[in-house]
Amino acid sequence: MQARHGRLDILVNNAGILVDDPTLKPSQQTLQALWRTTFDTNLFGLVAVTNAFLPLLHASTSARIVNVSSLLGSISEHLNPESFIYDFKIPAYNVSKTAVNAWTVRLAYELRGSKIKVNTIHPGYVKTDMNRKGEEQNGELEVADGARTSVRLALVGDDGPSGGYFYLNR
Ligand SMILES: NC(=O)c1ccc[n+]([C@@H]2O[C@H](COP(=O)([O-])OP(=O)(O)OC[C@H]3O[C@@H](n4cnc5c(N)ncnc54)[C@H](OP(=O)(O)O)[C@@H]3O)[C@@H](O)[C@H]2O)c1
Repeated sequence: MQARHGRLDILVNNAGILVDDPTLKPSQQTLQALWRTTFDTNLFGLVAVTNAFLPLLHASTSARIVNVSSLLGSISEHLNPESFIYDFKIPAYNVSKTAVNAWTVRLAYELRGSKIKVNTIHPGYVKTDMNRKGEEQNGELEVADGARTSVRLALVGDDGPSGGYFYLNR
């Protein structure tokens, strides 16, 4: 990419896995098979890809990074018994997305004053493979609608936010 284009304008970190065993309590999930596997993809992979592309992003006149997180990463929602995600205590996935949100804030701080904006988003509850169990397809949004928030933040203007968390128009 360096030789061919010389710069990168948009990086969307979308890759993610959800491998928690919903039949186990949070404290029973396995350290290696679950926690480390989840963090390898959802956090460490995202950080590694971002760091690798930062030189090319800095070469852009107006670069955007979108980290695809989840409402399930919200600490305040998980503390609120009224929240509809209150009972979705799938710990490795939840905490990996909390870490993505926290990392985004730190990276935005590093990049303040640069031409790179980095934000984190919740795509919605989307009809993807992540929400498919055999023949049963769960989810509220079609895939195209699930992409809307990523696209919006990928195209945000130079006066737009950095270090924020977004879902659709919020
Ligand atoms: N669907 C939802 O309701 C929902 C809600 C909140 C957040 N999210 C987030 O949205 C993002 C996309 O999820 P999805 O619903 O589209 O899930 P998905 O259908 O399971 O797709 C996940 C994608 O991540 C890729 N991936 C997984 N592990 C990878 C790795 N180690 N290296 C490179 N690519 C990897 C997969 O590639 P392969 O196909 O090659 O394996 C696949 O393209 C994830 O970050 C997820 O946490 C989804």
